[in-house]
This record gives sequence, structure tokens and C-alpha cells, in this order.
Amino acid sequence: MCGIVGYTGPRQAYPLIIKGLKRLEYRGYDSSGVALLNGTGLKVFKKKGRVTDLEEAVIGKNLEANIGIGHTRWATHGEPSDRNAHPHSSASGKLAIIHNGIIENYAQIKQELVKKGYSFTSDTDTEVLLNFIEDIQKNNSCTLEEALRIALKRVSGAYCILLIDQDDPTTIVAARKGSPLVIGIGKGEHFLASDASPIIEYTKEVVYVNDYELAIVKPDELILKNLGNEKVTPYITKLDMELAAIEKGGYDHFMIKEIFEQPSTIYDCLRGRLDAEAGAIRMSGIEKNIEQLKNANRIMIIACGTSWHAGLVAEYIIEELCRIPVEVEYASEFRYRNPIVNKGDVIIAISQSGETADTLVALEKAKENGAFIFGIVNVVGSSIARISHAGAYTHAGPEIGVASTKAFTGQLAVLFMVALKIAQEKGTISTERFNNLVNELSEIPEKVDAILKNAEEVKKIAEVYKNASDFLFLGRGYNFPVALEGALKLKEISYIHAEGYPAAEMKHGPIALVDDTLPVVFIATKDTYHEKIVSNMQEIKARRGKIISIVTEGDEVSPGLSDHYFSIPPADELIAPILTVIPLQLLSYYVGTAKGIDVDKPRNLAKSVTVE
Ligand code: M6R
Repeated sequence: MCGIVGYTGPRQAYPLIIKGLKRLEYRGYDSSGVALLNGTGLKVFKKKGRVTDLEEAVIGKNLEANIGIGHTRWATHGEPSDRNAHPHSSASGKLAIIHNGIIENYAQIKQELVKKGYSFTSDTDTEVLLNFIEDIQKNNSCTLEEALRIALKRVSGAYCILLIDQDDPTTIVAARKGSPLVIGIGKGEHFLASDASPIIEYTKEVVYVNDYELAIVKPDELILKNLGNEKVTPYITKLDMELAAIEKGGYDHFMIKEIFEQPSTIYDCLRGRLDAEAGAIRMSGIEKNIEQLKNANRIMIIACGTSWHAGLVAEYIIEELCRIPVEVEYASEFRYRNPIVNKGDVIIAISQSGETADTLVALEKAKENGAFIFGIVNVVGSSIARISHAGAYTHAGPEIGVASTKAFTGQLAVLFMVALKIAQEKGTISTERFNNLVNELSEIPEKVDAILKNAEEVKKIAEVYKNASDFLFLGRGYNFPVALEGALKLKEISYIHAEGYPAAEMKHGPIALVDDTLPVVFIATKDTYHEKIVSNMQEIKARRGKIISIVTEGDEVSPGLSDHYFSIPPADELIAPILTVIPLQLLSYYVGTAKGIDVDKPRNLAKSVTVE
């Protein structure tokens, strides 16, 4: 949550920072701001609203500077407003700070500062931290770096902060714990950001700063230190990402671009791992740890949101294929209760961003208890990827739309391969079934492509129901989590209230909602549960609910019971969720855009949730 950008070097800092903030806007878009340093001192410009509002607000101002920091905010402490926007300046006006995270004990520190005579212009924890740092600097007559180190030993919470000081006009001092920071290494210049997207255009050499590290960044020097003031050697990584991957490429929104990318992202995810001809799956993260995985007493899947839905699908698949008990946990619940985690347990962590605070802290807790962590992550080099003992990337490329789409299908593809591989090694699957499923999986990109070719049909359905006030999504078995995902997508993108349910549970309560205005989306593909779900459709029809169904091509029953239906190619029921979710992603996109909603940045949300 919150995006940060910093630059020091020979270029003009302002245009570079603004461009970077636009790329990071998916992380928060309540307000934005920049702090620039030049011969005339420190200047701070900030504005409630989007980055474009900031651009308008600074028209005509002198923005000359070769060093600067910028921030796009997702509000935690204090409402979205000009005065709560970052950067914040210190009491003396010499220091400026931007911050991504939460300082949990800020109230106590604020009290101490108020007693000393400090006053505050915002409601934020960040302004408190900055004045605390300045107070330490003043009292100890020390450098900014030293003052920061002392301050960080006192604060609890999560942070990635960048600081600039009018008295040291080429240096950015940065620190991280729990919120990401990437530093791009240029020739005589350095770039700092929450992720690599603002940097990729200028350099591919980056350093991922670790928790409890401080960075002292000058145009031609990067020094990393730990909180004990010992130098740490920066580990330089080469970015494997192209600029085109973070641009809209002719689409109206990132969300629809990302939905349409799925044939190739799923293909990329399978490539090099799934060998249909040889009937093999090759995944080094699994192979190297196969004893641990196949002998697991239990698998616990930890995730949030859409990633949690992928975990629910995996629960069904792993139990079916590997015969290992699986529990799926919301990370936010797991971390605050007293879960029983034993040495023989395997934790599968699922996260697109790899930075979700709830998931990250839950994993740290499980790791302390001796669990083996297998991470399924999209963002390479992210925190969750780094704290996992082993893992597999989803290789979906940067996902920028706030609603997760291509990351979900990538997660399902990886989880399916993981389950198949463990089942093969454990001997819980026959060779014939294994080969069939491998073949089916290899055909998925083509089938997704075929579904997308009919996207206009979904658009027409969206037009009919765009003004509904509620939606119900129903599925059974492997498609029950897809019903949950369809409801989440619609809520996020269209602000329509939607609920996902196992279809059979409907009669235990939600059926009371059904009348002739309620659209009910059934995922009614041909599988073990087909007859049962057809009965559920009858029950809705008898109560005059409007039925929209996702059916298998050639199904002669479900379409007849539906007001609208959308056909998808046949697939084994274990793999079907990768296909059934696609029309639901499209439905939410078309309803959201028909209602005029900015689907890439829906209200109140942020892509990467780095606060609890
Ligand atoms: O980056 P993660 O996968 O850990 O994020 C988890 C959730 O915050 C995320 O899936 C969220 O629910 C999305 N907005 C769903 O579209």
C-alpha cells in the first residue's frame, strides 16, 4: 500500500518521479506529492486525489531539481486530504519524508514530542516519525542516518521510508521493514521505488533492500547498512521484465489487457515445467524438497483475497490427488490465533504481490514454529518469495489492475502442477490419469483463447444486468471457490453487492433473497455435480430468479433453464476452474465499465496490501 519513488542524479527529478508515481498508482490513489531539493532549498507539493491532480496543482511552479522523493497514498492514519498527503516536512522545514507502512506506537511518541513543544500539521503517524528523527538529530548532534537508526530501534510497525535533508542535497536516506524497496543502479544516478516499474526504463540492475536495512544513496554511491551500523554488501539482481509489460498496449484498462493476456501467461507458467510429450512435470522447487512434501502430515495453505480462493481450489485438488489433508487459512486469522503448526507440516503461501502484510507475518510465525514454507508468488524477488524455503513463481508478469485476474489462473496452474507432481512421487495417481491430466493442462491456453474470442457475448449479458443491486454466484465442488471469486470480482469492480455460495447451501438461507430481480450466476459445467446443480437451477427458476449460467459446450440441459448462458470448452473437472473463472472476470469488467467505474483503481482498494 502506498507507492514511493526517489531519484538522485543528473536528470530532472520531477518528471521522472511523476512518471514513476503513475506506474505505482495501483498501490494507492488517495493523494500524492513530491519533495524536491535544489539550490533554493526544499520544496514540497502535495494534493488530494490522483497523480494527475498533483500535476495540475504544480503548473507554473519551479520544479527544477536533481533530487526528489514522491508518494502516492492509500490512507491509514488520517483521511485523504492535502494536509495528510506525503511528503511531510519536519518542524525545522529542513527534512522531508515519505512512508509506506504504519508506525504502530506513534501515539506514544507523539505525546512525548507534544510535551517537548512540537505541534503537527497532519493526522499521520509519518509526520510523528519525522519529527522524532529530527529531535534525535538535534539532541545528539548526529547525522540523519544515525538519527534514523536510533529512531527505528524505538518504533514498532512496518515501514519503507525515504528521507531528504536540505543540508545534504544529493543524498536520500532510506530504510525498510515489512514494506518493499528496490534501488535501481544507474551510471552516476540511483532510482528508488516500491517496485521495479518506475525503474525499468532506466536500468535493469537493481538491489532489493532487506528488512532492517538502511540505504544511504548518493548519485554515485550506494551504501547499505544494518541497524547495527555494519555495512552490508548490496546484492545486484538483473530485472527480467520489459517496459511493454507495464503499459496498456492499446487496451482501455490494465484489467482487460491482463484478462486477455491469460492464454500467454498460462502458457509461460507451464513452459519448461509441463512436458506433455514425455508425460512429465519438472519443478526444481518440488524435486529438491520432495521428501518433505510427499511425507507432509498436513498442508496448510495461507493467503488472502483471490489468492485464498486459489488455495481453496488447491485444497480439493491436493486432497483428491495426493491424499494429504489440507487446510486453507485466511492469513489475517491465522496470524492472530494460536494455530497448531508442527514440524512435519508444509505451508503453501499464495500471493500475487509477495508483499501482503497479513500473509507475510503469518508465514514468519509458521516458520518460527518449524514449518516448511513453499511460496507460490508472482512478483520475483518479493518478500514472500524470499522468506519461503522453496517455491514456484507464477510467471504471469506484472499485474497492475487492482482486481487480480491473470495471477489467479497462474496460481491455479502452478498449484495443479504441484499437486500432480507430489501425487506422482507419492504413488497416489495412476500413470494413465497423470498423463491425461498433463495433456489436459497443456491444452488450457488454447481453451482460454477460445473463451476470450466470445467475450462480446459476456458484454451483452453485462449490459442486461448492470443495474442489479445484488448478485448471487453458485458453484459446487471445484467450482465453489470460483463462485466466491466471481462474487469478489464483481464487488470490487462494480460496487454491486454479490455473494458466492456452494450451490447446495443456498437452500439453507440465501434462497430467501431470490425474487424476479436477483441475477444468480451458476457455474454449471459438466462434472460429477452436474445433475445436482441442475436441480439447484430448477429451485431458483421456480422462484423466478434470473439465471445466468456458465455451461460446457454441448450441454443440452442447463441452457434451457437459463435466461442467459455462456459456453466454455470441455475440460477435466479438476482443471475446469481455470476456464470457468474467465467469463466471470469478463462479466465484472463489463459491468464495471458499463457503470463508468475506473476498474483499474476502484474506490478504497489498493493492489498490494502492506498494512494489517
Ligand atoms: O498480492 P496478494 O495475492 O497477496 O493479494 C491478496 C489480496 O489482497 C488480493 O487477491 C485482493 O483480494 C485482490 N484485489 C482481488 O482481486
